[in-house]
Amino acid sequence: MKRYYCNEVNDKHIKNAVKVYGWVAKRRDHGGIIFIDLRDHTGIVQLVLNPDNQGLFKLAESIRSEYVICVQGTVSPRLEGAINSEIASGSIEIIVSSLDILNKSNNPPFKINDINVNEDQRLQYRYLDLRNNIMQKNIRFRSKLIASIREYFYSNDFIDIETPILTKTTPEGARDYLVPSRVHERKFFALPQSPQLFKQTLMIGGIDKYFQIAKCFRDEDLRSDRQPEFTQLDVEAAFVDEEDIITLVEGLCNKIFKDLMNFKEELIFERMSFSDAIRSYGCDKPDLRNPLNLIDIKDIVSDVEFKVFSDHVNNSDSRITALRVPNGISLSRKDIDDLTDLVKNFGAKGLAYFKCENVNDLDAGIISPIKKFLDEDVIKNILNHVDATDGDLIFFSADQKDIVNDSMAALIKKLGVQLNLIEDNWKFLWVLEYPLFEKDSNGEPTSIHHPFTAPSNPDDLSSNNDIYSINSRAYDLILNGNEIGGGSIRIHSKDVQMKIFELLKIDEDDMNSKFGFFLKALSYGCPPHGGIAFGIDRIVMLLLKLDSIRDTIAFPKTQSSSCLMTDAPSDVNNEQLKELSISSIKSKK
Ligand code: AMO
Ligand code: AMP
Repeated sequence: MKRYYCNEVNDKHIKNAVKVYGWVAKRRDHGGIIFIDLRDHTGIVQLVLNPDNQGLFKLAESIRSEYVICVQGTVSPRLEGAINSEIASGSIEIIVSSLDILNKSNNPPFKINDINVNEDQRLQYRYLDLRNNIMQKNIRFRSKLIASIREYFYSNDFIDIETPILTKTTPEGARDYLVPSRVHERKFFALPQSPQLFKQTLMIGGIDKYFQIAKCFRDEDLRSDRQPEFTQLDVEAAFVDEEDIITLVEGLCNKIFKDLMNFKEELIFERMSFSDAIRSYGCDKPDLRNPLNLIDIKDIVSDVEFKVFSDHVNNSDSRITALRVPNGISLSRKDIDDLTDLVKNFGAKGLAYFKCENVNDLDAGIISPIKKFLDEDVIKNILNHVDATDGDLIFFSADQKDIVNDSMAALIKKLGVQLNLIEDNWKFLWVLEYPLFEKDSNGEPTSIHHPFTAPSNPDDLSSNNDIYSINSRAYDLILNGNEIGGGSIRIHSKDVQMKIFELLKIDEDDMNSKFGFFLKALSYGCPPHGGIAFGIDRIVMLLLKLDSIRDTIAFPKTQSSSCLMTDAPSDVNNEQLKELSISSIKSKK
């Protein structure tokens, strides 16, 4: 007898004998007839058991939710009123002639397709959670995405190479996960934050086109789009420049959107320099679906005595900007107070604004808590400069650059959602011309990407006094305001690499102990090369419009980096610790 998936059985099979396997979603006893909704990953099919066959009927009475069964029967049309047009098998039912209970189930802690189950419970019983329609769709989509990616790279002559999991630290900016070595007392492996150094070493090894679907491990504060253990599409190629990588990636995105998103037309990729992105959006991952952007007004308020502005006019580390929100006067006083609280989370001291009811009537038509501090001319200039029209709300921010940028970027994002300004579309953006370095929280230089990123001009490293003005050959790909991938053309000269380490104040001992092997490899004929890596989990999340990266991963960790199903991380016994020459001490926290 032919086996079908539940949702495959339909009116074409009427009068056919069929066999189906699945889980019992629901059993209903209706006046002597038992109906069972049988579920597999394709959906539901309705089974019918009549009391004519008492043996079968009795067995069916013992069935509970989530029992695993196999039935055989004949497909029959449903009665007129019983047709369910929502599901593909909704016009038929299977009149059961044989029933096998393959396994019983405890009463499940939640209904499989209940969308209101709390996440801790879902993660603890992940095997039950995975049975639901949404998780089945997500996990199968992810597999198709990976298949599409592999096809693309194989057809472009890239080869798939695995790199080690037990390795040495790679500086991607997070803490390492460490694994103690039993054989080498008091020594540790680090789990890779990315395969960065291995893929570069592969280029030195004569592999000119590499890719890998690689597991990466980063011990960092988690957010809805970050996991401690996540998956990258990692790519590297020799004898390439920025345009080669960009073309390769755009081809990949086009294939993914054709294969998985039913896209017929070519995708559009915009480009923007890092400095333009910061200037217009306050961040390097702007969502181009959102029309709001920042306009600098420092020049216009340069003579104003109002302290909020004047404190920042002559400070080159400060920024004074305006954000024009069309139709923003619909925001209430309470809305503005909430938005002020939002920007304060980023260190802003307030959120001044103009409510433009009538831009031609400065007296009665502009409502603002700061109007009394400003001359009419200044108000007029600001309105002109931002192209204000009636109905606009104009917000102002004046502070240290970082505070203005972070708080206004958050404000733009929030207003985009609150005022429904985000169009339903896919906007790709390449952010280019990144600086090589930024200041860390201690005011020391740190790489914006990683220390293997090539400077645009290596001569700048020795001639330039302001290292923060040196540009790099890095590029990030942003999709709808999310960084989905990032990479660069790499340093392939040992001297340049050492100079970068020096500028990063990595002393020679550290340089040798951490990267000695790599510096040595660079001195044996390293080809020019470059690459990129994408967050697969993040891409799945975006394409399926999910709120959490956890819904893209079969067995994810919680926000506090634990696995509720296996209860990892967990205690180990003293014997194991002793073997590893480790003693466990309680932290004093
Ligand atoms: P980067 O650190 O930018 O670059 O990582 C590449 C992409 O990986 C994704 N990503 C994450 N996804 C989920 N959870 C995380 N904790 C997480 N961290 C990063 C992001 C990001 O864009 N070796 C370089 C790439 C290169 O230069 O080729 C690297 O790892 O989508
Ligand atoms: P204050 O003089 O502190 O009462 O502020 C007057 C107005 O300016 C209030 O609406 C504040 O929210 C706003 N404000 C204060 N500091 C800043 C700032 N640094 N940037 C923008 N607006 C501010």
